[in-house]
Amino acid sequence: MVGAHFVAHGRSACAAAGRRDPRVEGLRVERFADVDLTDLEAVRRAVRSAREPVVVNFAGATDVDAVERERPALSEPPTGVAWTTNALAPGVIADAARASDKFFVQISTDFVFDGVSGPYDEAAERSSYSPRVGWYGWTKSEGERRAIEADPTTAVVRIAYPYRGPFPPKADFARRLLARYREGSMWPMYTDQVITPTWIPDITTALDRLIAARVSGVVHVASPEPTTPFEFASELLSVYARRPVEVSSGRLAEAPTGGGHAPRPLRGGLVPARARTLGLPLTSWRSGIAQLVAEVRA
Ligand SMILES: NC(=O)c1ccc[n+]([C@@H]2O[C@H](COP(=O)([O-])OP(=O)(O)OC[C@H]3O[C@@H](n4cnc5c(N)ncnc54)[C@H](OP(=O)(O)O)[C@@H]3O)[C@@H](O)[C@H]2O)c1
Repeated sequence: MVGAHFVAHGRSACAAAGRRDPRVEGLRVERFADVDLTDLEAVRRAVRSAREPVVVNFAGATDVDAVERERPALSEPPTGVAWTTNALAPGVIADAARASDKFFVQISTDFVFDGVSGPYDEAAERSSYSPRVGWYGWTKSEGERRAIEADPTTAVVRIAYPYRGPFPPKADFARRLLARYREGSMWPMYTDQVITPTWIPDITTALDRLIAARVSGVVHVASPEPTTPFEFASELLSVYARRPVEVSSGRLAEAPTGGGHAPRPLRGGLVPARARTLGLPLTSWRSGIAQLVAEVRA
């Protein structure tokens, strides 16, 4: 979802590597290499042999509840598809990128934070391992750590609840809300969760600029104003319906945990402090909603 936007709208001509040829979705890439991130030697070979000077890793095991079911017991060593994909592969990519003199960008998430005291800026320490950090967040956090350790010039671009205009292959949380509203199957939205949704075109522009300037280290790309799922859904549906829409409310703090539900950061989200200093475009959530609805209606 995020990578496809960069390929379609970014300034760079791209080659792609992954387990699904993006040309099937009509995306224009110069070449495609069939690589599964769980095959770490194949990943290393693909990065080392690539002709391109920059590698961006958009791939990941992203279904947070499915990934939670892979969380090992505390006494067991980490293992599983999400561990290999999200934690080990970024380290291997970074190592191969450094060895072949390429600039590496790893896409990451605010779920690396436990949500006790967010939104978090780029200087905040990633949270340590605890039941409050989902297995998805922990595997992504370890991916960041390994990438930076293998290549200190790595850029880590963290995003939060990314959403975009129409994209049939995958619905983001905003377009899922619209679909639910149209079906009349809305569910209660949390009033106590802090989120900073990322307008996906901002990621593409940020990547263009970070790549051109070879900016290393952590950069947050997210709405500069925080919101809640309740506030976001109320605005989205009201703008879409052109009349005030009432959304029912709930509280994340009272939501069931365990049983395959990954914990979500309660006071989560990102403060894009460094991004602001770098002059990157940062679309507020209200403005992103206006653009999304305009694109959906077009
Ligand atoms: N969506 C969010 O809410 C969110 C929030 C914060 C950060 N992020 C991060 O942003 C990045 C992009 O997310 P997205 O929303 O664009 O996710 P997405 O649409 O699920 O894209 C992830 C891609 O990774 C590929 N992939 C997964 N496992 C792979 C493997 N073993 N080998 C090769 N490719 C594999 C998937 O391929 P298939 O098509 O074959 O499955 C998919 O194309 C990820 O790093 C994610 O962690 C996402």
